[in-house]
Amino acid sequence: MPANICQQLNKAKNLDKESYVSSLLSQMTLKEKIGQMSQFNNDDDKLATAIKNDDVGSVINEVDLDIINEFQRIATKESRLGIPLLIGRDVIHGYNTIFPIPLAQAASWSTELVETSANLAAIESSNNGINWTFAPMIDISRDPRWGRIAESLGEDPYLCSTLGVAMVKGFQGNNLANKTSIAACAKHFAGYGASESGRDYNTTNIPENELRNVYLPPFKALADAGVSTFMASFSDLNGVPVTGNSWLLNDILRDEWQYNGLVVSDWESIPQLVTHGFCEDEKSAAFEACQAGVDMEMASDTYAKNLPSFIQENKISIEQIDTMVSRLLKLKFDLGLFENHFTESRNPTEHLKNTYLNVAKEVATKSCVLLKNDKQILPLCKTKISSLAVIGPLADDGYEQLGTWIFDAKINQSVTCLDAIKDYVGNTVDVKFNEGLETSRSNNQDSFEEAVKIALSSDVAVMIVGEEAILSGEAHCRSNIDLPGCQEQLIDAIHKTGTPIVLVIMAGRPITLEKILPKVDAILFAWHPGTMGGPAITDLLFGEACPSGKLPVTFPRNVGQIPLYYGQKNTGRPASDATFVDINDIEVRAPQTSLGMTSTHLDTHFSPLFPFGFGLSYTQFEYTNIQVNMHSFSMGESVEVSATLSNVGSVDAEEIVQLYIRDLVGSVTRPVKELKGFQRIYLPAGQSKTVVFKVHTDELAFYNRQMKLNTEPGLFNAWIGSNSATELKAVFEVVLTPE
Ligand code: BGC
Repeated sequence: MPANICQQLNKAKNLDKESYVSSLLSQMTLKEKIGQMSQFNNDDDKLATAIKNDDVGSVINEVDLDIINEFQRIATKESRLGIPLLIGRDVIHGYNTIFPIPLAQAASWSTELVETSANLAAIESSNNGINWTFAPMIDISRDPRWGRIAESLGEDPYLCSTLGVAMVKGFQGNNLANKTSIAACAKHFAGYGASESGRDYNTTNIPENELRNVYLPPFKALADAGVSTFMASFSDLNGVPVTGNSWLLNDILRDEWQYNGLVVSDWESIPQLVTHGFCEDEKSAAFEACQAGVDMEMASDTYAKNLPSFIQENKISIEQIDTMVSRLLKLKFDLGLFENHFTESRNPTEHLKNTYLNVAKEVATKSCVLLKNDKQILPLCKTKISSLAVIGPLADDGYEQLGTWIFDAKINQSVTCLDAIKDYVGNTVDVKFNEGLETSRSNNQDSFEEAVKIALSSDVAVMIVGEEAILSGEAHCRSNIDLPGCQEQLIDAIHKTGTPIVLVIMAGRPITLEKILPKVDAILFAWHPGTMGGPAITDLLFGEACPSGKLPVTFPRNVGQIPLYYGQKNTGRPASDATFVDINDIEVRAPQTSLGMTSTHLDTHFSPLFPFGFGLSYTQFEYTNIQVNMHSFSMGESVEVSATLSNVGSVDAEEIVQLYIRDLVGSVTRPVKELKGFQRIYLPAGQSKTVVFKVHTDELAFYNRQMKLNTEPGLFNAWIGSNSATELKAVFEVVLTPE
């Protein structure tokens, strides 16, 4: 059999990427080019034939290694061109070993752990023939009703950018061509997180200035960090669905940002341009998406069916198609696929298996957030209690603790809280278990009696409640984010026993906890903690580890407050305790203007239940002595803001020290606080440390009214503290550089 085109090119050793790709491209027919632009789902029964005919650039969702290798063999040996395939899969927070959901990972505020867990996920999935993941999702999420908040890195552009870049580094490694690297994907470009009413796929309306200052920065950061691919969002952005939005995909992504990587559509998002009412048929949808610069179509076939006619009709130039296809081929080159496209499954060594589990445990430990700890009920001490009631539908469910996007999880690897607690206390404590409710959604109270009975005969009740995995994630949104089912009633019933309650919550989003807060003694918010959730939570409950996670998203008191986020604008009439009026304090027929007249609701306090950045520890940290090294400095310079952090409690612990700023006057109004830095710091009990943050004037820039990124001179506040409500403040001024 004569050598195919790629085999011939491979023989011409040492071809650089540009020469390889342009030579390959020059030998491709239009049909073959469009084939490269098509991603097929693995359930297509004509897939093998299509691969042989050079009609497929990528396959999504195939995870059987033998089949993947067979597809690669057909692509590289039996087709005319011999181009290997991109094998895509949603590897979102682990592959077989499941790390905490992304929102939980964000609560660790640990770039190191986020990078390591993405790296281990890349090792596990690449070992199974996967070379492309659709992660990280870096949609700013300020609406906890939205199910995909679970998959996000939270509400803040700075935290999301920093951790998103770390994830990309973890997936892609130092060199994409390494066998253990996989291509990452910045998704969903852009604005998807602003879906109206937190309902998935819903319309988004985001003024350009807010888009640029809040929603786009993480995408820009990932583009600058070299993320290989972008995914165009499903959603309608200001009336133009992103998959056909040339302004976003061409003007901003390509022209302004000079991004040269591949842009893939979301699942069938090209034909959905018709459903949006943006295009009259699939042909015009294919045209709009192609003009907007979507290089590859995921799961549908409007490109294959329609792009040839646009070339014939001179509506799209062949040069445009070549540019798009060359991006795809370059990615395949960067991944080293032209030379290495087969995967030899390597059984992980014992050492690697242990590494997966140890890291999964460490991330889970560092991502749990302690929200309440009255009278220091935690940590529990196994020699001081003799009996423990473990109650709740999520206490012993290895599946539900994994959360959303766990297609390839090894579920039986999961260690539940019940098992881990029993294992930890051994014979020293009598552990009794009752699930109380069959599932987190259940309304059947038949087991309450038994649950109450075991609580009555125990020193402490550890209740493990929350949301089962399917209640968050794509298309799983809620209008009410209380604990679902009868879980609040279960807490009430146990509360009435008088036995102290330690509440552990596993969930894919913030939960509204105001009603149950007074009924429990401690709350540990564990998100969906993954495979090693049980051991991580057990270590925290018994003081083998000290809680250090901090909220990456604001916890509202009730859904009526949403959207509620720390980086809000001040308004002309800001809320304050001095002016706040409660509905019950209003006199009958009070005159219209006699009350507060500020930006508040009458029936709930304006503050969140727990602010962004909040999280308690078993020790106490104190912040004092905030300073700036220069009160006034010029454009192009950096200021150092520092404060003293003291561990005044009795436990050695880690603290996430946070720096916020406020630009007091802007040509466009600025948020009341903006995170500009954070450091995870270990400090033994009794010790103090000066924590220093350096801020360059470029880091104070924002998009102005002309949509230009610019730092404006003037006064700034800076705060250093343990969460976004910190009041330890300094002031500095940026002055114009003298001419
Ligand atoms: C989601 C994407 C995902 C894709 C492939 C879509 O429904 O929006 O985030 O990567 O499916 O599974």
